[in-house]
Amino acid sequence: MPKKTTRRTFLKRTIGSLFTLFGLSSGGYYYANKIEPSMLGIEQITITHSLIPDSFNGIRIVQFSDTHLGFQYTLHQLKKLVNQINQLKPDLIFFTGDLMDEPNRYTKMNKLVPILEKLHAPLGKFCIFGNHDHGGYGSDLYRNIMEAANFTVLLNQSSVIKLQDHSKIYLLGIDDAMLGSPDLPLALKNVPKNNFTILLSHAPDLADDAQDYPIHWQLSGHSHGGQVKIPLIGALIKPPFAQKYLEGLYTLGDGNKLTLYVNRGLGTTRLPFRFLSKPELTVFTLNKEKA
Ligand SMILES: [Fe+2]
Repeated sequence: MPKKTTRRTFLKRTIGSLFTLFGLSSGGYYYANKIEPSMLGIEQITITHSLIPDSFNGIRIVQFSDTHLGFQYTLHQLKKLVNQINQLKPDLIFFTGDLMDEPNRYTKMNKLVPILEKLHAPLGKFCIFGNHDHGGYGSDLYRNIMEAANFTVLLNQSSVIKLQDHSKIYLLGIDDAMLGSPDLPLALKNVPKNNFTILLSHAPDLADDAQDYPIHWQLSGHSHGGQVKIPLIGALIKPPFAQKYLEGLYTLGDGNKLTLYVNRGLGTTRLPFRFLSKPELTVFTLNKEKA
């Protein structure tokens, strides 16, 4: 005989399920607010191309992106990150934008140079502007910090990376698509054809333009990998210019002319949560494709 549901057992069950629901959601809240944002995934990617000179074989690049300091990401995390990057022994370091969440409101700006200047890469440290680096009159503040920390800021510019045997590859940095003025022809002005060329663009969706130029790889950030991804629904945050390319590798153009890599970034913005989109450091290793 089925057990009669008394008012008391009904209340008990309801309170029980509410409690379970609350427990799960507060657990979920805690995970997305405290646990996942403090995780770090180190992705290893090989960049293979026939135009990479032999002597660049094995050269290591570390890309970090979107720290958004001042929103949720802390100076303590940045210090730890700098040690982690140095332990990876990169030859080159690239920062692909959004250093501070709101540059004109960030009160610990004077602490940044001593931390960032500790990053060590014998072939150079390069960076570009993200939308948050331009926001709140941040452009000069960001440039000053990065230059004082020995980064070369590439604003629609190129830089040649040369080894002792004079072999070289080219690096381009483009302005941010949301709040800046990206100009690919200007950035390519001093780049001769038939040289391996990497583009740094905060906004991943600029790859649709980049594929029409002699650019072989593009490294981007901005998307935060969606930041919060709900199963069956997808990414909660898809900013303009990161609508199409959200995270990881993509190939574009005829004969896969351009390869795009989108880094999920380290910090958060707008919502202090990450879910199914762990913070990321990317280590690229150059590899000459044999004919
Ligand atoms: Fe960002």
